Amino acid sequence: MALRNIRELGDDVLRKTAKEVRDVTPKVKELIGDMFETMYAADGVGLAAPQVGILKRIVVIDVGDGEPLTMINPEIIETDGEQTDYEGCLSVPGKSGIVTRPNYVKARAMDENMKIFIVEGEGLLARAICHEVDHLDGKMYVDFVEGSLVDNTRTEEN
Ligand code: NI
Repeated sequence: MALRNIRELGDDVLRKTAKEVRDVTPKVKELIGDMFETMYAADGVGLAAPQVGILKRIVVIDVGDGEPLTMINPEIIETDGEQTDYEGCLSVPGKSGIVTRPNYVKARAMDENMKIFIVEGEGLLARAICHEVDHLDGKMYVDFVEGSLVDNTRTEEN
């Protein structure tokens, strides 16, 4: 495994739509391993493949609940409630801003064996899933932040 370079706001790759993954090749597995390593090294709770310059619909998340998640071709299928809190992004280092997200999210994705699974999350996990799926469509939290960005007050970055 290896650390990948995290692309930052202003890099065009972050604004493109990522492509569906049709086959989990050894190269894709290596990418997923690298994404986890890169996310942990940066103290993040989530990372999407476009953030390391790869336009594939792959997301990794670890909100510290003991269940690291790999989501391939993720889709949000249900949301409920609302939460308003600070959010950060590894592609916008040192900053955070207030974003309102659903408090509950149900998503469908494929694992590394292309097996479909369902994940349900509340709070930070729901926020992280929304944030990472947005990355796959070229969207970033700074587009819908309430108020202005502030210097980071917390370490949870996606
Ligand atoms: Ni992010």
